[in-house]
Amino acid sequence: MAKKLFVKTYGCQMNVYDSERMHGVMAAEGYEATDRAEDADLILLNTCHIREKAAEKVYSELGRLKPLKDARPDLKIGVAGCVAQAEGQEILRRQPAVDFAVGPQAYHRLPALVANGGVDTEFPVEDKFLHMPAAPRRRAPAAFLTVQEGCDKFCAFCVVPYTRGAEVSRPAARLLAEAKALADQGVREITLLGQNVNAYHGEGPDGRDWTLARLLRALCEIEGIARLRYTTSHPNDMGEDLIAAHGELDKLMPYLHLPVQSGSDRVLKAMNRRHRADEYLALIERIRAARPDIALSGDFIVGFPGETEADFVQTLALAEAVGYGSAFTFKYSSRPGTPAAGAGAQVPEDVKDERLARLNAVIWRDQKAFQRSMVGRRLPVLVEKPGRMEGQMVGKSPWLHAVHFLADPATAGQVVEVDVIESGPNSLSGRLAA
Ligand code: SAH
Ligand code: SF4
Ligand code: F3S
Repeated sequence: MAKKLFVKTYGCQMNVYDSERMHGVMAAEGYEATDRAEDADLILLNTCHIREKAAEKVYSELGRLKPLKDARPDLKIGVAGCVAQAEGQEILRRQPAVDFAVGPQAYHRLPALVANGGVDTEFPVEDKFLHMPAAPRRRAPAAFLTVQEGCDKFCAFCVVPYTRGAEVSRPAARLLAEAKALADQGVREITLLGQNVNAYHGEGPDGRDWTLARLLRALCEIEGIARLRYTTSHPNDMGEDLIAAHGELDKLMPYLHLPVQSGSDRVLKAMNRRHRADEYLALIERIRAARPDIALSGDFIVGFPGETEADFVQTLALAEAVGYGSAFTFKYSSRPGTPAAGAGAQVPEDVKDERLARLNAVIWRDQKAFQRSMVGRRLPVLVEKPGRMEGQMVGKSPWLHAVHFLADPATAGQVVEVDVIESGPNSLSGRLAA
């Protein structure tokens, strides 16, 4: 009987992609996927270190898994991802039920770790994905594809440069081949992933470095791929050719995640973001000029050390000025080893809570208004899967709204036209256009 692998994924979309590739590696070793930890011979937690809460989750989950290991000592438990990179040895010391820890750049060496245990948090020079067989795909029309990993930006609050290592772009030819294989398996939408995806500068088939815009153009040529997205971008890497691509490539969806973190120049400087608020707003104007129907999404941190009420009011003003289609908001979390951890006056927790609530009020209001503005419009929807109600299907708008409508299950994987009738709390509903 085949052995069984259970993977639990935390954190960002890059972890989702990595988990899928780890399934591929272990499938080649005879492991089948299971959704039940109780049935597994191997359990992998693919972890996130970005905020303290995320990292602490790992230890409580390991505490829950320990009885399984006590009952079946042959069960293997491994910790992967960014917590493994940051705290590898420490995890094995704190929780003896763990057999091994593996950092994000060493996943191709997973079989050896499963067999022998230990900690592997090296940053090898080779492309790990070259040595990781693709996973058997579950049928889904949307897929992720990691094109760039790591970060050289060193924002003062952030662990990513330490957990993922230096910026590396994968060669374009390999990405085109992987995208083509995905298209052949029925994938219609690909989201290109990278911690700084728009800093992509992989080797092109012509021997020259390709930009992300060049790569997107080539991906548009692949038959079967109907939609392209990319995330996450840094404002300083938004090149002219990429802005222009938004106006020229129909397959590139009109939705851009462009984190700004703060609207105060003083805080941006302390964060080491290397741009001012007015530069960010001017950039958005240029992007909107290229693609007028583009929606923006962003990330914000409130309560960065030293942030005053006056700084925060500037963040509110920036959010108002942009009018985000959606955004993620976080309370600053002090991370060991980052420059901001020891710096400045830490903002009290209750002040952070209060600022977060005020910022969310602005973000949620704009998000709702944007979603409501879809009512009465005919939208192209990529059909994903059956909805909760009988006969219903659910898919995604170009702006990532979930859209419900009655349709034949055979429409899954197609882009259909839907007349939007209603805007609910978290989704739109409508009628398939004749
Ligand atoms: N590479 C991306 C995002 C990486 S992490 C970028 O540069 O935008 C995703 C988001 O988590 C960040 O944009 C930031 O808003 C948030 N984040 C990162 N470190 C944080 C910390 N120490 N405390 C709170 N939020 C944090
Ligand atoms: Fe972290 Fe900044 Fe790099 Fe984004 S750009 S991953 S926030 S250091
Ligand atoms: Fe978390 Fe690592 Fe992603 S810290 S956000 S899983 S890069």
